[in-house]
Amino acid sequence: MLGIRRKGWALAESAATDEVVFLQRRTLVKALGLGPALIAAGTPALVAAADTADLYPAKRNGRYKLDRPMTAEKYAVTYNNFYEFGSHKLISDAAQALKTHPWQVRIDGLVEKPMTVDFDALIRRMPVEERVYRHRCVEAWSMAVPWAGFAMKALVDFARPLSKAKFVQMETLADKETMPGLKQVWYPWPYTEGLTMAEATNELAFIATGLYGKPIPKQNGAPIRLVVPWKYGFKSIKSITRFTFTNKRPVGYWEEIQGREYGFWANVNPKVDHPRWSQASERVLGTNERVPTLLYNGYGEYIADLYKDLKGEKLFM
Ligand code: MTE
Repeated sequence: MLGIRRKGWALAESAATDEVVFLQRRTLVKALGLGPALIAAGTPALVAAADTADLYPAKRNGRYKLDRPMTAEKYAVTYNNFYEFGSHKLISDAAQALKTHPWQVRIDGLVEKPMTVDFDALIRRMPVEERVYRHRCVEAWSMAVPWAGFAMKALVDFARPLSKAKFVQMETLADKETMPGLKQVWYPWPYTEGLTMAEATNELAFIATGLYGKPIPKQNGAPIRLVVPWKYGFKSIKSITRFTFTNKRPVGYWEEIQGREYGFWANVNPKVDHPRWSQASERVLGTNERVPTLLYNGYGEYIADLYKDLKGEKLFM
């Protein structure tokens, strides 16, 4: 299970500051009204120090509606899965050690031009909005929350993948200094996940940077995470540092740990049980009410077409 994954990616390009990043710094510095002297200084720290709090609350996109009350904020920010900070739910205090500034995002693999961008500069290029989505964990609990961020399609367009790219793999930061979970060396760090290009560019696939009208809390995956609400929550990878476009289907963190229980597709389906528990219903965070689980978590109208021609795939685990 361990030790056979691709390693050492971070080393190759981490030092690179390419033209795209430089241009983005210039744009941002200009937007902030800072002078040429600061542009010349051009350090990542300078740009990363720029605050993005002004982006929140973002204007809500009314297209996505909830069929249930919103989860109270205090539950969504204190009951979390973030194994880098511990393999239990009460990691919100430990997660405050996560250093989110500066934060760089690497975009590489099958793209026109690999690049490293400062998160603060990247988000200024994106169409930020708020969306209320349901979230269904594979462990059969759920919540309904207002994310802010942007359609993943905007990021894919920005990345300019080559036509031979069929998947996008995402990777979470793996920092031994601040993430105590990494001491559990038998887990296959870094946490990774993947989507097909059709999934990543589907209108529902969302990159979240905010929650409840504020920048996203560290425990929920600051500063940038995935939200794919028709899939079990483990697909929604947190604190992303890398997007790699590839023609090979990525093997995610949970699939690598236990491929018989957690697969690549992981689409929500109340009729397909997890090998160890039922997926027919879910416990609503906060109220503890049990409600029936919906096929594709209720999002079938947006995404069911993605899967209609896929035969012989385990779409629901
Ligand atoms: N991303 C990383 N890097 N590490 C994790 O442990 N847990 C996943 C997902 N993303 C996880 C992760 C699981 S199992 C769920 S249900 C959601 O994050 C939980 O998101 P939340 O804590 O914001 O509710």
